[in-house]
Amino acid sequence: MNITQKITALAFAALMVGIGSYMLTTRDLVIKAQQVSQEQAGRVLFANLCATCHGPGGDGSGGAPNLSDGRVLQKYPTSQALGTFIQQRMPASAPGTLNPDETRDLVLYIQRLNRGPS
Ligand code: HEC
Repeated sequence: MNITQKITALAFAALMVGIGSYMLTTRDLVIKAQQVSQEQAGRVLFANLCATCHGPGGDGSGGAPNLSDGRVLQKYPTSQALGTFIQQRMPASAPGTLNPDETRDLVLYIQRLNRGPS
């Protein structure tokens, strides 16, 4: 390899590294955006299906347990555990009626309620 070839090879390698990290960042952003929109969908579902009993924002003011004070995540620490409970038992007025996407979105929203805004 002469010097020009070496420089070209180096420049090409640097370009590939640059493109690779750009693609990784883009993928992370897409995943993050997807999660935020799923949380938003969960917020709407919660307002429509859960807030009558659990209160708006899950504060327990409707008579059913507070879902925003951290306790529910101690009881159901994983998304899987919380999702299984919700899918099988909630809404208490119509258990077993939520589909998997709705359940996932509600889990993300309840987890967000307990963590506070990002
Ligand atoms: C008709 C009233 C009612 C509705 C509607 C309702 N819930 Fe509940 N929920 C309850 C009651 C009562 C409990 C406590 C008894 C129990 O755990 O079964 C409860 C418990 C829970 C718990 C467990 C809380 C804990 O600390 O153990 C979660 C999580 C939950 N509900 C989520 C939801 C979600 C999500 C929805 C909407 C899809 C929903 N609930 C709709 C009445 C309701």
